Amino acid sequence: MTEYKKVALVTGGSRGIGKAIAIDLAKSGYITLVNYASNDAAANEVVEEMQQAGGCAKAYKCNVGDPLAVKEMTDSIIKDYKRVDVLVNNAGITRDGLFIKMSEENWEDVINTNLNSAFYVTKPISRVMMKQRSGSIINISSVCGVYGNPGQANYSAAKAGLIGFTKSLAKELAPRGVTVNAIAPGFIATDMTSGLDQEKMQANIPLGRLGQPEDIANAVKYFADSAKYVTAQVLEVAGGLAF
Ligand code: NAI
Repeated sequence: MTEYKKVALVTGGSRGIGKAIAIDLAKSGYITLVNYASNDAAANEVVEEMQQAGGCAKAYKCNVGDPLAVKEMTDSIIKDYKRVDVLVNNAGITRDGLFIKMSEENWEDVINTNLNSAFYVTKPISRVMMKQRSGSIINISSVCGVYGNPGQANYSAAKAGLIGFTKSLAKELAPRGVTVNAIAPGFIATDMTSGLDQEKMQANIPLGRLGQPEDIANAVKYFADSAKYVTAQVLEVAGGLAF
């Protein structure tokens, strides 16, 4: 039996997919730490919801694209909790547009928030997991990172980068009992997709509906709790969608 309470950190956990993941982990008994960028009220609501579900929770305001801010956050987490069992690199943004017209700023913002952030957060946390000789790192990629998508060259590059990162890190950390996997969601009903043509998206999904944030949370739970002999994998949770 586990004598300690397991600790999970979810980046970008104040809404959408990250929120569903955080609430699910809290319900499963994890001390769940939620990172968020700016919306204090939304983060506090998630913490309250997790506490009502019987979980122990705390929110950390930090731009995961800022290495100094991430260091402050991870130092504080490691000092207070001493261990981290699950890390979900979920924070992400889109700045869509045709490549030919894409500004350097939109390229860099997306690469920094969606890919560099995983480097900044995972480095200190993986050190803790290596010492523990256990842990599960789950990177939220995208089907765009697997298949590509017009209008999303920046986003697809970052999400494909996360897949390469996942596979390489998995091989480095396997001898220490730490697993690293990626989830590639298809179209999930969140703020990120609310501006897109719902009917058009749905028409291309064999299961005939957009995914819900809870569909991704279920996959995270599988990697966190059950998939002890699974590492370096990319799980598409996309209703059968393949471009
Ligand atoms: P969302 O826009 O609803 O939520 C994104 C979260 O990331 C928000 O909580 C936001 O505050 C946080 N965030 C953004 N920049 C941040 C920063 N610099 N520092 C800290 N937190 C930051 O999006 P959604 O849909 O919940 O997406 C979550 C993840 O899933 C993202 O990585 C996204 O790329 C990925 N994804 C989403 C899909 C979808 O259809 N919704 C499909 C494939 C992947």
